[in-house]
Amino acid sequence: MSYNLLKGKRGIIFGALDANSIAWKTAERVHEEGGKFVLTNAPIALRMGQINELAEKTNSEVIPADATSLEDLENLITKATEILGGKLDFVLHSIGMSVNVRKGNHYTNQNYDFTHKGWDISAVSFHKTMQVLYQKDAMSEWGSIIALTYMASQRVFPDYNDMADNKAYLESIARSFGYYFGRDKKVRVNTISQSPTPTTAGQGVKGFDGFISYADKMSPLGNATALDCANYTVAMFSDLTKRVTLQNLYNDGGFSNMGVSDAVMEAFVEGK
Ligand code: NAI
Repeated sequence: MSYNLLKGKRGIIFGALDANSIAWKTAERVHEEGGKFVLTNAPIALRMGQINELAEKTNSEVIPADATSLEDLENLITKATEILGGKLDFVLHSIGMSVNVRKGNHYTNQNYDFTHKGWDISAVSFHKTMQVLYQKDAMSEWGSIIALTYMASQRVFPDYNDMADNKAYLESIARSFGYYFGRDKKVRVNTISQSPTPTTAGQGVKGFDGFISYADKMSPLGNATALDCANYTVAMFSDLTKRVTLQNLYNDGGFSNMGVSDAVMEAFVEGK
């Protein structure tokens, strides 16, 4: 269903790799709600992924950018405002990668070059993106910037590895930069903390299947899907949430406030 919530709005969507990506679903929903946007991803992901299919479907252009490169981000933001015909109303940062996770290094046995690379991609890239947007004065007043995060930033989930630290850093950047963006440009900055979701990045986490079914059983409303996340992001990009900023917003079926659920308890009752 479409409500035209984003009619006339322009933006950039980072991180659509394939049809499972949260950013892919978000691009589809933003398009349905009347928003126009440029899609972007790292050059290597553009070669491997199916982004052209999404671009065609949503009448959008694709501009490659490695989100750790200031030069790429400057080029992206300049070109996006030219293509879209004005300043931006929304930006989605949907980027995450841990080299330690990818290489199977345990949290207690990190390769710090990998730690640094993963931190740059997953967290500092959000600062870099906002710094370029801020310095170029590329956001419209009452614009909205969202990054995606996960609960392991605040509580222990053993196999989330150094991504837990990256997400804590990402959430802090949202608050710190959000202050300046709000004060100086009237722009909102928030993070959405999403349930475990079966995507390429999600499935890279060891024991993901157990992880996802545990969260589902623990949450009174069950896990939020990628489409649920896309819908929440549309609401956050719309004018209906104009004074929500500096927040970490849970889209997790209630998981973050649970201690234990009946469904999880049952698995521990003796004899069962
Ligand atoms: P995904 O694998 O579809 O998306 C991750 C994206 O990051 C990919 O498109 C990848 O190409 C991009 N990326 C990696 N390095 C990059 C770079 N140097 N420059 C630009 N882009 C780069 O997976 P998903 O799950 O859609 O991830 C999106 C966001 O959602 C991430 O921040 C992830 O941590 C977050 N998230 C995911 C959850 C899950 O369980 N899947 C749960 C909570 C948050």
